[in-house]
Amino acid sequence: MEIIERIRQFVEDECRKSTSKYGFGPYDSHFVPMVKYAKNLAVEMGADVEIVEIAGWLHDIGSIMVGREDHHVTGAEIASKKLKELGYPEDRIALVSDCILHHRGSQKMESETLEEQIIIEADSISCFDNIVGIFRAALVNEKKNEEEARISVLNKMTNKWNQLRFEKSKERIRPKYEAVRILLER
Ligand SMILES: [Fe+2]
Repeated sequence: MEIIERIRQFVEDECRKSTSKYGFGPYDSHFVPMVKYAKNLAVEMGADVEIVEIAGWLHDIGSIMVGREDHHVTGAEIASKKLKELGYPEDRIALVSDCILHHRGSQKMESETLEEQIIIEADSISCFDNIVGIFRAALVNEKKNEEEARISVLNKMTNKWNQLRFEKSKERIRPKYEAVRILLER
């Protein structure tokens, strides 16, 4: 349990730093709900809960510390280094690192483990709780106009929906995805 708390604290501290690429906002709006969903799925599906929780906290650390581009690669490197420092076993570091490397559905890779798929699903599910943040990313960070943002958010949410493989996740998110389509499709 201690390792999870130390990793959570590390992520919180990095989000608080002035060097955080996205400020502190993502800690509450993305990391916290994402880890909650990931943990629930891991428990329900009999996955390795510790690996899933650690990977959940660290999956976007590359985005925070380095930037969005290739954040699955930078994040896996940062995570491995940090976990090594904390004396976490090498074989388990590799499992966490793979979850982070494979968490971007847009860069699909094969033969995911259950833990890897849970990270992808929890990441997608948590986006549906943060549609304001997704709009902000399009309008503010990517500097799109309103029409471009509408299309971009609709596409993003559709991609997130398409990444879901577990019936449990689909059931939970279906009403929200249908609402997104009603509101954003023309
Ligand atoms: Fe994420």
